[in-house]
Amino acid sequence: MNNLRATLDQNAARVENALNELFMSRSVKSETLAEAMKYATLGGGKRLRATLVYGVGELFDAPKAALDAAACAVELVHAYSLVHDDLPAMDDDNLRRGRPTCHIQFDEATAILAGDALQSLAIETLLSERFNPCDVETRAAMAETLVCAIGDEGMVGGQAIDMQFTGLSVSLEDLSLMHALKTGALIETSVMLGGIIKLKQGDRALDILSGYGRALGLAFQIADDILDHTSDSETLGKDAKSDDRQNKTTYVSTMGLENARAEANRVCQEAVGLIQRLDGDTQFLENLAQFTVKREY
Ligand code: IPE
Ligand code: IPE
Ligand code: MG
Ligand code: MG
Ligand code: MG
Repeated sequence: MNNLRATLDQNAARVENALNELFMSRSVKSETLAEAMKYATLGGGKRLRATLVYGVGELFDAPKAALDAAACAVELVHAYSLVHDDLPAMDDDNLRRGRPTCHIQFDEATAILAGDALQSLAIETLLSERFNPCDVETRAAMAETLVCAIGDEGMVGGQAIDMQFTGLSVSLEDLSLMHALKTGALIETSVMLGGIIKLKQGDRALDILSGYGRALGLAFQIADDILDHTSDSETLGKDAKSDDRQNKTTYVSTMGLENARAEANRVCQEAVGLIQRLDGDTQFLENLAQFTVKREY
């Protein structure tokens, strides 16, 4: 696991550099908007989604610049999702990555607009030859994979269900669907983007990656539910007990802490079992699955 930490740190530094360069290349007329976008994206976060892009991409020898574009894209979408998730109309949180949330640091209108612009920038990063060196078909396939995962049939759909489920008790099936959409879809996409640069549609490896990404995403959000309930704001860098305060429907509220822990481990093992079916050295991706549930923040 020491190795894992070092690689996570390296990948975090790598995507941070790529994001810095990307922001430096923009000419945004509103300085406030540009500042809010950078504030929400740079200088924090575990960069799990970027690390999945790099970890999978390197298995298939994908070009470095294409992986940087994909890593930036998923981290930009993730940053946008956090900015909107923290808004008063949603989870109403004040702390994110150890700092005031975007709408507290700036204001609500700026936070909404920064989120909107981060989402567009993510898609531009994958589609535009300026940022992504792949051929036009591959760039389109990458962008399609991302947009299909983050909209009404994916992440945003999951966030809508999250709002609707607040205060309700729901079946495990509905709960796992909510998690698969609100968090799993972008995590699965991060895994897939690392693969589709070099693999052809219909390749068996893509099915394996998809199953791994889905299981990892679910395990990750169950662990997030557990940490929200058991940890503190200082360790997490975000408001702990936010779910309890908002009466959110989570794995902990639905099945209790111990069962939630067991379920996170079960799904993590599923991810490990799936990725082991891939040819090549999958140790890093196995370790990442373990990290997903063992992490403390
Ligand atoms: C938090 O994601 C939001 C969820 C989808 C659970 P992360 O725990 O990956 O947040 P950062 O990027 O490390 O801050
Ligand atoms: C966030 O889930 C999911 C998305 C942002 C899409 P949470 O609301 O549980 O994330 P945290 O706990 O605020 O990071
Ligand atoms: Mg939320
Ligand atoms: Mg939240
Ligand atoms: Mg949470």
